[in-house]
Amino acid sequence: MPTAPKGVRGAVITGWGSALPPRVITNDELSQTLDTSDEWIRERSGIHERHIGGTTAGLSVISGAAALAMAGLDPRHIDALVLSTTTPDRCVPATSATVQHALGLSCGAFDVNAACSGFVYALTVAHGLIAMGSSKVLVIGTDTLSRITDWSDRNTAVLFADGSGAVVLEAVDGPGQMLSWDIDADGSAEESLYAELGGFIQMEGKDVFRKAVRIMVDSATKSLAVAGLTADDVDVVIPHQANIRIIQAACERLGIPMEKASTDLHYTGNTSSASIPLALVDAADTGKIKKGDTVLLVGFGAGMTAASALIVWGGQ
Ligand code: UT7
Repeated sequence: MPTAPKGVRGAVITGWGSALPPRVITNDELSQTLDTSDEWIRERSGIHERHIGGTTAGLSVISGAAALAMAGLDPRHIDALVLSTTTPDRCVPATSATVQHALGLSCGAFDVNAACSGFVYALTVAHGLIAMGSSKVLVIGTDTLSRITDWSDRNTAVLFADGSGAVVLEAVDGPGQMLSWDIDADGSAEESLYAELGGFIQMEGKDVFRKAVRIMVDSATKSLAVAGLTADDVDVVIPHQANIRIIQAACERLGIPMEKASTDLHYTGNTSSASIPLALVDAADTGKIKKGDTVLLVGFGAGMTAASALIVWGGQ
């Protein structure tokens, strides 16, 4: 188990931004072409509508530019770009290269693919870069799952969508915001959720549901233990927005009241890498997260991966 990052150069989030494509698809619209209903989708997933369209680079540029503007930073001062995505625009080069150029950055750029856990993986890596000397890192989570979704498959089409969320991390004197982190993977569960190159997402929904709750709880429990905190110390949870029932079950097992969870899946659907940053941005913009709050980010995804991090909003 990793130890809490004490004694290393800390970082805080100083800007954030998001992007959702303008095209909205409601449950009723899906019901016109699939054997499903608004009632079923709402009850079984919590999703009411989702946004579809654009490219991974295009959405990343919008959210990244918003985060840079909020932080008041000249793009040339960014030291690294870490883009979490499981739907790159091309095999080669990494989509982060396109985003780096479009945003006017002059720094290293690379993609991270850990599916829906990817943003927390990327955020952890970015803290590591700052601990090793970088000053300002842009972290973006973007997915365009609509491009790998079979729109005639009701098992997946009702869940997945497109979006992007970004944060700017800046080095600070002192410990910064990160209390603890955890990244996990279990490749033996690969067949539960996958897409072949050029193919559509294949998913064993019930199996993923069961594993998701367990691995989210395991990861969050590890991060709490490393930080020396209990569930009562958590002010806000930013969970992966896959299914409201998964979030409810995980919160219940962790002993965290559901009111502490930030949820936006009713209007975003499951946007994979964008899911956690979109919920984080939503919580920050609506005042659900306040300075000094202890925030638990926790996700799971194909792989099967899981990741969590405990941060103090605004720094310790
Ligand atoms: O980022 C990670 C990505 N994946 C996930 O997080 C997925 C995790 N799994 C889930 O969210 C849920 O398992 C689903 C939302 C996919 C399904 O919900 P469920 O409560 O597990 O439903 P189910 O698979 O047990 O299906 C219940 C019934 C079945 O009919 P019968 O056998 O009871 O007659 C299904 O055939 O609902 C039927 N069904 C649907 N009906 C209307 C399955 N999909 C649909 C649908 N619309 N879209």
